[in-house]
Amino acid sequence: MGKKTNITIDFMRKEDIDQVMSIEQASFSMPWSRNLFLSEFRSPGISTLMVALADGPVRTVGGYIVIWLVEDEMHILNLAVTPSLRRQGIARKLVLAAIKRADQKGAKRAFLEVRASNAVAQKLYLDLGFTGTSLRRDYYDAPVEDAVIMALEKDAFEVQSRTAE
Ligand SMILES: CC(C)(COP(=O)(O)OP(=O)(O)OC[C@H]1O[C@@H](n2cnc3c(N)ncnc32)[C@H](O)[C@@H]1OP(=O)(O)O)[C@@H](O)C(=O)NCCC(=O)NCCS
Repeated sequence: MGKKTNITIDFMRKEDIDQVMSIEQASFSMPWSRNLFLSEFRSPGISTLMVALADGPVRTVGGYIVIWLVEDEMHILNLAVTPSLRRQGIARKLVLAAIKRADQKGAKRAFLEVRASNAVAQKLYLDLGFTGTSLRRDYYDAPVEDAVIMALEKDAFEVQSRTAE
């Protein structure tokens, strides 16, 4: 096992966007545009953007999560970790921090869509207590693919909120 990077979770800042964009482009076949990230900053009542910062003298983004809070539901819109820092628990920390934040704001459950072929992400979410609820046919482009809708229901949501550091 390699050495684990020390990680701190913080709110994303506009100055983080260059680093976020390079992780986004390394992670997805249909990456979000810079404008899409920037538009999330304009809806602070709904949108929360968090980053995982790697220890060091300069602010280094190792991963990020974007969530929406709609009534009592948290929706995970985006999650990625820089390829060289994967498999160190960073995504898990980001999801737990987002759940805790959403809980503090009144959320009771969480939802997300994930590509049917993305077994790695599905395993991450299953380990956190999410369950697959349904399929959304041909939801994604490039390549066209179904989305699996996953949910973290009330009891598991509360447990995971208490698990976050
Ligand atoms: C999915 C992703 C965010 C996971 O990030 P990560 O920081 O490597 O994940 P973690 O280290 O927190 O892993 C947590 C758990 O997820 C599962 N997991 C993560 N990577 C895995 C892999 N390569 N193979 C199998 N399971 C994996 C494991 O259950 C892991 O727990 P374990 O290490 O104790 O076995 C990352 O691979 C990524 O950025 N992928 C591209 C973008 C993406 O698919 N985002 C999700 C969109 S819904």
